[in-house]
Amino acid sequence: MADFQEFYPLRRHNTFGFDVRARLAVHVRSEQDLVEALDDPRARDLPVVVLGGGSNVVLSGDLDALVLLMEIPGYRVDATGADVHVTAGAGENWHGLVCRTIDDGLPGLENLALIPGTVGAAPIQNIGAYGVELCERFASVRAYDRQTRAFVELDAAQCAFGYRDSVFKHAGRDRYIITAVTLRLPRPWQPALGYAELARELEGVASPEAGRIRDAVVAIRSRKLPDPAVIGNAGSFFKNPIVEAAQRDALAAGHPTLVSYRQPDGRYKLAAGWLIDQCGFKGVNDGPVGVYGKQALVLVHHGGGSARDLLALAGRIADTVEERFGVRIEAEPVIV
Ligand code: EPU
Repeated sequence: MADFQEFYPLRRHNTFGFDVRARLAVHVRSEQDLVEALDDPRARDLPVVVLGGGSNVVLSGDLDALVLLMEIPGYRVDATGADVHVTAGAGENWHGLVCRTIDDGLPGLENLALIPGTVGAAPIQNIGAYGVELCERFASVRAYDRQTRAFVELDAAQCAFGYRDSVFKHAGRDRYIITAVTLRLPRPWQPALGYAELARELEGVASPEAGRIRDAVVAIRSRKLPDPAVIGNAGSFFKNPIVEAAQRDALAAGHPTLVSYRQPDGRYKLAAGWLIDQCGFKGVNDGPVGVYGKQALVLVHHGGGSARDLLALAGRIADTVEERFGVRIEAEPVIV
């Protein structure tokens, strides 16, 4: 029998710190715990919500659901092939994994340092930062398929990775529960120093090693992103919108400081933080919620508020950006 807890408080399981409860919750520390919980008759009629670090979700109210608190551990290195493969349990802390691989002399994840959350959550939004996306260091996931009631391995193609996107946000959302992730660290290692801000941070450092790059990423992130342990947030709240070249050119003509990045397909990614900043929202507070003062892309919860407050502010921001620039920005975290 699964060790369910009723009306379980989730305030410490979501980095916005919203004070909501789960009808049933269970700590999942093994694949057996997972199957037991899903098969338990007490949970049969409830929808299932999977929580890792809770750092990329907006819990919109009490959840009449079975909440799986994913805590499966594990760390295994396979260095027998051309590239190094590292398999980690879904419940491992992501930044902990990044540091452990670097300590073990296995570079490759350093640009993704200090991203909050768990290993199992990383593929869902295809985490990315400072010029590297998870999909570039990815081999496979192991997941429980709720449709066939069996464990499966999914490769990168099956995960359908996109910018902050994967099958786990769409067709696989209520189907797969990730229990482990295998990363592929390409050999020989090549530092990824193409992101301008990272290159600036490392100016004067000759051939920086992975640990030094990790430290630089940690320094940049600590300067501009709020620590969820101190102030409620889920990192970037909006995705950077991707627009056609013609639309970007028209915007750039009217706004010479527009920040945009050319994509491989010829379209352009616009910096949503810049768009929001231009609309005057940076540092603006609306009761218990607000826009972070050092990075307009991050919404914060000061305490005592709810997802309703946050989503109202997010809606106002998106509407204002659309009126001013004709571009619709979309929320990045998963709204539950
Ligand atoms: N900008 C402003 N005002 C702001 C914020 C940004 O003008 O308030 C401008 C900056 O000057 C810069 C540009 O926007 O020229 C881009 O800013 P930044 O380099 O900080 O990156 P970002 O687009 O804000 C993205 C990711 C982050 C990731 C960084 C670094 C998304 C949605 N966000 O942020 O990811 O850490 O790049 O790679 O793609 C996350 O997903 O939660 C996250 C933090």
